[in-house]
Amino acid sequence: MIFCISFLALFFSSYTITPTSSTSLQDDFINCLHKNTNVDFSLEQTFFTPGKNVSVFNEVLESTAQNLRFLARSMPKPVFIFNPTDESHVQASIICSKKLGVHIRVRSGGHDYEGLSYVSEIEKPFIVMDLSKLRKINVNIRDNSAWVQAGATVGELYYRIAEKSKVHGFPAGLCTSLGIGGHITGGAYGSMMRKYGLGGDNVIDANIVDAKGKLLNRSSMGEDMFWAIRGGGGASFGTILAWKIKLVPVPKTVTVFTVTKTLEQDVGNKILSKWQVVADKLVEELFIRVIFNVAENNGSVIFKILYVTIWPNSDKRPSRHINWIRDMYSYMMPYVSSNPRQSYVNYRDLDLGQNMKNTKSNFKNAQVWGTNYFKGNFDRLVRIKSKVDPENFFRHEQSIPLLPVQG
Ligand SMILES: *[C@@H]1O[C@H](CO)[C@@H](O)[C@H](O)[C@H]1NC(C)=O
Ligand SMILES: *[C@@H]1O[C@H](CO)[C@@H](O)[C@H](O)[C@H]1NC(C)=O
Ligand SMILES: *[C@@H]1O[C@H](CO)[C@@H](O)[C@H](O)[C@H]1NC(C)=O
Repeated sequence: MIFCISFLALFFSSYTITPTSSTSLQDDFINCLHKNTNVDFSLEQTFFTPGKNVSVFNEVLESTAQNLRFLARSMPKPVFIFNPTDESHVQASIICSKKLGVHIRVRSGGHDYEGLSYVSEIEKPFIVMDLSKLRKINVNIRDNSAWVQAGATVGELYYRIAEKSKVHGFPAGLCTSLGIGGHITGGAYGSMMRKYGLGGDNVIDANIVDAKGKLLNRSSMGEDMFWAIRGGGGASFGTILAWKIKLVPVPKTVTVFTVTKTLEQDVGNKILSKWQVVADKLVEELFIRVIFNVAENNGSVIFKILYVTIWPNSDKRPSRHINWIRDMYSYMMPYVSSNPRQSYVNYRDLDLGQNMKNTKSNFKNAQVWGTNYFKGNFDRLVRIKSKVDPENFFRHEQSIPLLPVQG
């Protein structure tokens, strides 16, 4: 497959004090961190600012940014990037960004389609907390489980499982550079989904930092929040530190095959329509997907489609490609779900609408894209959000909004 797809990570904050300069903001933040954690950190290896060394700063910012479009010069940049090396640093960061009134974005694998884990266009200044140094994986074959920290990639997780057993696996995405933290917040689907469901269905516990900086697990967060963080999208309820996942049985030998047909060989587009009819009826161990570059098919679709356009870095006219994909999206209208037209939250799309800068009126706007992503579950997500983060600390362009104030 040619592209990797995926997801997320992410974020929050609030505005009370505007620091006078980025230097004093950083100093204030560091002082505040020291007061809120007992675990020391090396400034050299955890703090990156353009002022200190712009090439190192850019390297860290770009390290896991999967969509180069959001690194353009015109895009807003974080005042600094902090790479916590201990879970207590994440708790302290949330306490401190709230205290200092600076908006914070959190990144695990950086796959977020809209770059929300490392760019904030509506709330400035902002900082990025990059979880790439929190990537421990502890596989326990005896009880079929593993704890995996948010900054680990899906590929690392699969590798660590395979090191211990050839007959255990985890049903998540195909793209190995996905950060597991954000990936599961949007469900996490992959080639074992027919047999075992989504990654989110196979999570048995989680550690998350809430808006007060408190570390919660499944029993202390409660089942509502535990439900919301496994599919309700990233960065609305807290910062995921780690997931405890259930391992599933896999065969020692996996067979993979590719059948390639040109349009000329497939007279009348029979293959695609046949696939639609049989794909869900075959044994669950068989996963078949179709990738096509040019399609002219009038069949209806109850399947998920990913629209992708890729262009070389050297292409100076990205708007051409973006307009093309928007046309494609409109063109498909008659053939896909309607009322609502459904969308996958980990294919985040700001064209569906976005929150304004932390206003109470976001609920109405958000109903549009919220229903696309979550259908009837949107209302429940809003109720949970209002309960666990009433000050809307964890927010971004498409975070779950608060319930409107009554009266
Ligand atoms: C920035 O860091 C790089 C890599 O460590 C180093 O080679 C370079 O000299 C530094 N630049 C400045 C201006 O300190
Ligand atoms: C969850 O957290 C609570 C409160 O900190 C603790 O008492 C409990 O043992 C934890 N549960 C698990 C399964 O770790
Ligand atoms: C698809 O539908 C359009 C409009 O109804 C029709 O003109 C076209 O021939 C159809 N194409 C195929 C491949 O059936």
